Amino acid sequence: PIISIINGPNLNMLGTRQPELYGTESLADIEALCRAHAGGLGLAVEFRQSNHEGELVTWIQETRRRAAGIVINAGAYTHTSVALLDALLAAEVPAIEVHLSNIHQRDSFRHHSYVAKAAKGMICGLGSHGYILALDALARLIKGSSE
Ligand code: DQA
Repeated sequence: PIISIINGPNLNMLGTRQPELYGTESLADIEALCRAHAGGLGLAVEFRQSNHEGELVTWIQETRRRAAGIVINAGAYTHTSVALLDALLAAEVPAIEVHLSNIHQRDSFRHHSYVAKAAKGMICGLGSHGYILALDALARLIKGSSE
């Protein structure tokens, strides 16, 4: 099974972007972590990042026929995008929402997530380890649904 890992705006800046909040790992480092961990779970990974809302919508639409699950860190679109929510609601595959930082300790406008309405679960505040936990959760969900 393929897992689509989708990253939203400004996550291409990881490593240099507010490291006190987001850590010093780059997005490429997180991709490498995810690929290694997914391999051990018997999963393949498609790992992508875009700063464009519409491109993220298109990728979510495509997962419906390509992937068995979605890991999504929608960045700031988490808090604004009904379009991403609608795409996830139509995707018909389980999605796990990830945030590197603990969005509930931050500005009140980061406390609400549109993505959460469509996500099976949400992991925040654990840095890149959140992506690993999301892959574990999806592996379990996918296995459960094929039994
Ligand atoms: C983020 C949290 C969002 O509020 C922020 O806009 C981001 C990153 C995180 O991973 O902690 O871009 O999604």
